[in-house]
Amino acid sequence: MCGIVGCLGFKNPREYVLNGLKTLDYRGYDSAGVAYYNDGIRIYKDVGAVEHLMEIVPQDIKTEIMIGHTRWATHGVPNVANTHPHISKHKKICLVHNGVIENYEDVKKFLISKHYDFYGDTDSEIVANLIEHYYLSENDILDSLKKCMFVLKGSYALAIICSDYPDEMFIMKNGSPLVIGKGDGFNFVASDASPMIKYTDAFIELNDQEYGRITKNSVEVFDANGVKVTKKLIKKDIESISHDLKGYPHYMLKEIEEIPQTIKRLLETYVKDGKYTFDKTLLNKLKESDHIMFIACGTSYHSSLVGGRYFEHYGKSTSKYIASEWAFDPVFPGNKPFIILISQSGETADLIHCLKIIKENNYESLILTNTGGSTLDRNCTYSLLLHAGIEVSVASTKAYVAQVTLLALLADAVADNPKVIEDLNSVLPLIDEIQTSYKPKIMEIANAIKKKEHLFYLGRSYDYFLSMEASLKLKEVSYIHSEAIPGGELKHGPIALIEQDTPVIVFITDHHTALPMRGNIREVQARGAKVYVIATERVATETDNIVVKNYPYYLSSVVVSSIAFYLAYYVTIEKGYNVDKPRNLAKSVTVE
Ligand code: M6R
Repeated sequence: MCGIVGCLGFKNPREYVLNGLKTLDYRGYDSAGVAYYNDGIRIYKDVGAVEHLMEIVPQDIKTEIMIGHTRWATHGVPNVANTHPHISKHKKICLVHNGVIENYEDVKKFLISKHYDFYGDTDSEIVANLIEHYYLSENDILDSLKKCMFVLKGSYALAIICSDYPDEMFIMKNGSPLVIGKGDGFNFVASDASPMIKYTDAFIELNDQEYGRITKNSVEVFDANGVKVTKKLIKKDIESISHDLKGYPHYMLKEIEEIPQTIKRLLETYVKDGKYTFDKTLLNKLKESDHIMFIACGTSYHSSLVGGRYFEHYGKSTSKYIASEWAFDPVFPGNKPFIILISQSGETADLIHCLKIIKENNYESLILTNTGGSTLDRNCTYSLLLHAGIEVSVASTKAYVAQVTLLALLADAVADNPKVIEDLNSVLPLIDEIQTSYKPKIMEIANAIKKKEHLFYLGRSYDYFLSMEASLKLKEVSYIHSEAIPGGELKHGPIALIEQDTPVIVFITDHHTALPMRGNIREVQARGAKVYVIATERVATETDNIVVKNYPYYLSSVVVSSIAFYLAYYVTIEKGYNVDKPRNLAKSVTVE
C-alpha cells in the first residue's frame, strides 16, 4: 500500500508534501518520512503517523524538490531504518516506493556481489541501490531507470531524486498507482490526485511500465523501450476528491450519512425518464452470456454475493470468487462467461492480478468502481462508476451500498424489467428515517456489546449476506471478533460456541426466512445467548430491539446496512479507537 508524494518548483514544498502525506495516510500509517535537496540530500523520517513527522521536519526548508512517504509495512517491521525515503550506498539516489518487489532477494544478492550493503530490510532500499549501480557504471540516469524496469519484478510506483540533478525528479511505475499534477511553474507527483487537487486540476496518469523525468516546467514520459510517450492531460474537479470532513467528527460517520445521496446519484446517472442508460453493447454482452462471474475482495466481495443473487433471480447462473483465491486456481465456468470485477478503489492488487489472467485468456470484463482513472477503471473492457464520492474511511460503507444498488439496477436492466427503480426510490425515506431517528437504539446495542470479545451475526438469504458485511465492519474497526452464520448452519457446528451471555445479533427483514430464524433464536437463547434482533414490521415481535418499516426484502443490504454500520461505528467510538484508521489496515490494498 503506502502513499507517495513529490513536488518540484512549488513555493512551499513542506506544506504540500506533509499535508499531502496526511491526505494519503489512508494508504498506510506505520511510519513516514521526507527527503529534499539542499546542498546534498536531506532526510527526515520516523516511526509513527504523519502528525509526528510534522513535528520533526524543520519549518524553514529551502529547496526546489521534495519527496515524501507514508508507509504500510510489507518488508521489515516499522522502524526508522525501514522507513522511506531510502538512500543508496553512495548517496546518489534517494527514493520513495509504493509496491512490492517480488525478486528483491535475487537483486540483493546481485548487489552484494557488487559490494553493496544495506541498513534495513526493505525491498525499496534495494531499488535505490540498483538504480545507483547502473547510474554509476553508465552515467545516464534515464537509461538506469529503463534497465531497472527490465530487472525488477513486482509492483512499484517510485519518486526518485538524484544528487547530481537537483532540479529534476524521476519516476517509474508498474502495478502501483502514480499520478502527475501539472502546475504553472511547478509540478507534483502522488499516489492519487487528492493531495494535489487544491493546487491544480490537470493530471497525467501513468501506465504500467512507464518511467520519466519531471522538472518544474516539463514532464517527459517513456515506455519500457525508451520511446517517448505522448500523455493526455486529464481534468478532475475538487468536489469529487475532496477530503473535507464537512463538520463530521469522522469520515466513517460522514460516509454512512452520504448513503441516501449516493443512491440518488446512481439513479440520476443510470436512469433517464424511467429508462436505463447503460451502454447497449455491455447489456447485450451480459444478456448473451450464459454465466456471470464476480470477482472481488472484502466488502466488495460481499456486495457480489447480493448482486449475484439478483442476476440468479432473473435466471442467470453466476459464481462469486474472492480474488486472491481465484487468481491461484482460475476457472471460467459456462460456455460464454461474462466477468464482473468489483472494487471501490480500483487499485486492489489481488484484483489486478485476476484482470491480468482474464486478459491472457481473452475474456472481456466489467469493473464496478468508485475511482475513475484507477488501474481497473482504465484496464477493464467496460467500467461503471459508483459515483459515491471519495470514501476515505478504511471501513467501506457508502461504497458497499453503491455497489449493491448498481448491481440491482444492472440486473434489472439486463432483465428488461425496470422495477428496481421504483423500489429504490421507495426506500430512500426509510434510510433517512433510520439515519435520523434510530441512533439511540443502535447505541443501546453498542453499549451492551462493546466489552465483549466475541459475537455472532445471524441471518438467512439476503440477511445472511448483510450479516457477513455487518460482521466484517464490526471486526475491522472495533477489533471484536465476530462471525456471520447462516441461521440454518448453526446446528451444523457453530452453535457449539454459544455460551451464557454470548451476544448474537440477528437480522430478520425477509418474511420468507422469519419462521426458521425465530427457531434459531430459540436455539441460541436455550444455550444462554443474549440476542439482539433487528426486524421489519411485518415479521417483528414485541421484544425485538430495532424494528424497521417494511421494504422490498431484497434491498436489506441497501436499507439495514446503515444500522450495521452505525453499530460498528458507535462500538468503536465507545472503545476510544481510531475508527477511520483501524490498526494493520489500509484503504487501498495495493499489495497481494
Ligand atoms: O477497493 P476494494 O473494494 O477493492 O477493496 C476491497 C477490500 O480491501 C475492502 O472492501 C475492505 O474489505 C474494506 N476495508 C472493508 O471495509
